[in-house]
Amino acid sequence: MEKVPEKKMRELSVAGCEMIGEGAVGKVYRLDDETIIKVFAPGVPLEVVQEEKNIAKNALVAGVPTAISFDVVKVGESYGAVYEMLRAKTLSAFIKENPECAAEMGKRMGRLLKDLHKIDVDTNKFVDVRGLFKERVRRMEKFLSKEETDKLMAVYDCLDSRKAIIHGDFHPKNIMYSEKTDELLFIDLADMGFGHPLLDLGATCLVMELFGRTTPERTPHFIGLEYKTTLEIWENILSEYFDENDIKEAKILAEIYGQAKFTLFPVIIPHMPKNDVMGFLMGARARGFLNKDFDITPALKPTVKF
Ligand SMILES: Nc1ncnc2c1ncn2[C@@H]1O[C@H](COP(=O)(O)OP(=O)(O)OP(=O)(O)O)[C@@H](O)[C@H]1O
Ligand SMILES: [Mg+2]
Repeated sequence: MEKVPEKKMRELSVAGCEMIGEGAVGKVYRLDDETIIKVFAPGVPLEVVQEEKNIAKNALVAGVPTAISFDVVKVGESYGAVYEMLRAKTLSAFIKENPECAAEMGKRMGRLLKDLHKIDVDTNKFVDVRGLFKERVRRMEKFLSKEETDKLMAVYDCLDSRKAIIHGDFHPKNIMYSEKTDELLFIDLADMGFGHPLLDLGATCLVMELFGRTTPERTPHFIGLEYKTTLEIWENILSEYFDENDIKEAKILAEIYGQAKFTLFPVIIPHMPKNDVMGFLMGARARGFLNKDFDITPALKPTVKF
């Protein structure tokens, strides 16, 4: 059979393009009136960029409100993914300009997340988020005692299997708000997969509440808002997502999954020196998930229905 020639990757230059956003993994530029490009840091492999673009495409097909994704291109030594330009600002920027809207937007985020979790996905097209976390536990095992490994595994093993779509990094800087259409849209879908809603709620609890407990001055750097505002938003997400009687328990459950995610950070940081991992774990043993008094039984016997 004749071999179909591979389509050559487009090469683009961002010289002269306006930079409209910068995150942990790359920079976002406006290409023209219709499109933007997310240029990943040099060294980020092509597969990672392609994977993020594929997730965004599959998400849109599954009914997730997000930008249309176009192609993956080469930009100098880096790769970039081209997306539809959303005529919107981040929800974080909108709330910063309109602080009186924080509670209402928190409620809308709660509804948005609940609606997202109602979407069941084709498990062949998305990654199993619980599986990813269990893999992280296995990679951490050599630094942990048997009891600590078991405690981490237990909170993931006890989740019932779900096909709900999980954003993975749900916070106001990864949502765009169009004032014109009054619409909220998801961006930054790199961590999207399927699983139990608590995997999402835990991740949100971590960035909106747990990080700021010890270093509130760093919250504006991550979220673009003061810690007291992210707390207000988080409370409103929970109050909209859950029935009134369930909120207290839901908060405890979200914290358990947030603390567990935090404990597994060393394995997602490339080449973290062993001494740094041990120092990090000392902190987690002193006041985090690995502390003997940190109780995971609410996760093992939940009464909240999802
Ligand atoms: N489709 C889009 N249309 C308009 N602006 C966008 C779009 N996608 C991203 N942006 C802008 O670029 C910024 C960064 O985008 P994104 O969150 O995808 O990347 P990132 O923050 O680098 O990733 P990470 O959160 O993993 O560090 C956003 O906050 C937003 O301001
Ligand atoms: Mg982002």
